Amino acid sequence: MNEPLLHCPVMVNEVLEVLQPGPGCVYVDATLGAGGYSKAILQETRGRATVVGLDRDAVAIDAASKRLSAYKTFHPIQIEFGQMDVALHSLGLEKIDGLVADLGVSSMQFDQPVRGFSFQHDGALDMRMDVGQKRTAADIVNYEKQEELAKILWEYGEERFSRRVARRIVDRRKTKKFTSTVELADFIAATIPGRRGQIHPATRSFQALRIATNNELGELNRLCTLAEQTVKSFGVFVCVSFHSLEDRVVKQAHRRRHQAGGPLWELLTRRPRTPTDEEKSANPRSRSAKLRAAKRLNP
Ligand SMILES: C[S@@+](CC[C@H](N)C(=O)[O-])C[C@H]1O[C@@H](n2cnc3c(N)ncnc32)[C@H](O)[C@@H]1O
Repeated sequence: MNEPLLHCPVMVNEVLEVLQPGPGCVYVDATLGAGGYSKAILQETRGRATVVGLDRDAVAIDAASKRLSAYKTFHPIQIEFGQMDVALHSLGLEKIDGLVADLGVSSMQFDQPVRGFSFQHDGALDMRMDVGQKRTAADIVNYEKQEELAKILWEYGEERFSRRVARRIVDRRKTKKFTSTVELADFIAATIPGRRGQIHPATRSFQALRIATNNELGELNRLCTLAEQTVKSFGVFVCVSFHSLEDRVVKQAHRRRHQAGGPLWELLTRRPRTPTDEEKSANPRSRSAKLRAAKRLNP
């Protein structure tokens, strides 16, 4: 894969600042992508930290593996991050010094029409991060019950017209199933009343379908629970999220208390950190990023 196609990592300096990676330590990069964070940790520690990179997308694993092949302490594993414990176990590891997650999809996924994440270019209605997974976005759109579809659009996309969009989709699919991203986006746009603003009317529904297809919030909740079990005392859990549903899960996880009642985590960011103006203009996709970090307390 050519360098320009690689994902541009977001807030990488801020991640290093809170993580403070050190030699001899073990880190998990839960969302490897093109390996931007893993590379930064390995460079910072001159290859003397162990980095376990997880991604459910074989293309990402392949790209990052090639890019970081010079580092003997880098271990890419294709798996959901909700199974981080299994991945660590496979390497004979249990506890880690730091966990980083950069949620959502990578540019390598978003910019490939065939992956079906975007309606900027037409592609199959797919949206699976792991193409080995069975259920695609088309399966949800074409076969999910109307009420469930409306719930997905409302809960994961905060789409005001969720019921109307779901009803129209169900009517239309009786005669013709949806197969392409642009077709669905145009259909949703025609269904939603009102003036056209800056954001395409299908944006919220596409976010909702992506979250549902990949069980993104279920995965994130599981990662937060695993963070409690695997991050060592004084280790750090950093998360970069891109919408309020993710940010809420991370914020609540960082505020959890242990059984005796004391806090499990010390907040390193009382309010989420956001990219600098410089980064936002150099990489517009970073605009909505929010970074939260917390340090595991010694119970
Ligand atoms: C925003 S990108 C990460 C980019 C990365 N930080 C970099 O510098 O290239 C998110 C990546 O996480 C992966 N991903 C998202 N949810 C996942 C999950 N539950 N388990 C494993 N990988 C996941 C996606 O496939 C994608 O490659």
